[in-house]
Amino acid sequence: MAAASLTPPPRLTTTRLVLRPARPDDAEGLFAAYTADPEVARFMTWRPHRTVEETRDYLSACMDRWAAGTGFTYLLEEPDQAGPIGAIDLRLHEMSADFGYVLAHAAWGRGLMPEALRALVDWALAQPGIWRAVATCDVENRASARVMEKAGMRFEGVLRRHTIHPNLQPEPRDCRLYARVKDD
Ligand SMILES: CC(C)(COP(=O)(O)OP(=O)(O)OC[C@H]1O[C@@H](n2cnc3c(N)ncnc32)[C@H](O)[C@@H]1OP(=O)(O)O)[C@@H](O)C(=O)NCCC(=O)NCCS
Repeated sequence: MAAASLTPPPRLTTTRLVLRPARPDDAEGLFAAYTADPEVARFMTWRPHRTVEETRDYLSACMDRWAAGTGFTYLLEEPDQAGPIGAIDLRLHEMSADFGYVLAHAAWGRGLMPEALRALVDWALAQPGIWRAVATCDVENRASARVMEKAGMRFEGVLRRHTIHPNLQPEPRDCRLYARVKDD
């Protein structure tokens, strides 16, 4: 089966996290946790949200993509804590999956994102049609490069002028490419 027609699980659990789809009532929690934080948004493709309505619109787009099967945004929650603390995007292509991720500043440095990313990469590479799990980060985003390394992905090279990170500069910037494949 082509990877693009797979349906990912609606809920995944790791040792410390629950990964689940977004809900409309997540907007306030996500806005308070990180969508308005310029430090969190620094290397992202979006600008910090100025109002909770922007976060509501973002979540609404996530839910639409999930319903249409065109993209799968999981929110990250610690089971004994109130509200989501981050998100991982999973996108399925013909033979591969790619990922993007973000975590609230208060939760940095505990290895939570490598744990969440590894769980989704493991799921992806266990699917018969998925051969590559891929992610990229800005060449200056050392923390994100470490996340991919800790999730078992390998550095494959620099994609020059690959992605616009508008909080840094308006032109596309160089990005590091990481991947794990079925045989790894
Ligand atoms: C990148 C990110 C997801 C890392 O998640 P995490 O769960 O904190 O990851 P880890 O705890 O494994 O830490 C990874 C690296 O982050 C850096 N880091 C950890 N705590 C940090 C802190 N408090 N402040 C700044 N950097 C920190 C370290 O370089 C660490 O690497 P090390 O383990 O070799 O020391 C998180 O920093 C984040 O959301 N950043 C903003 C959004 C972003 O850049 N997303 C990725 C876009 S490609």
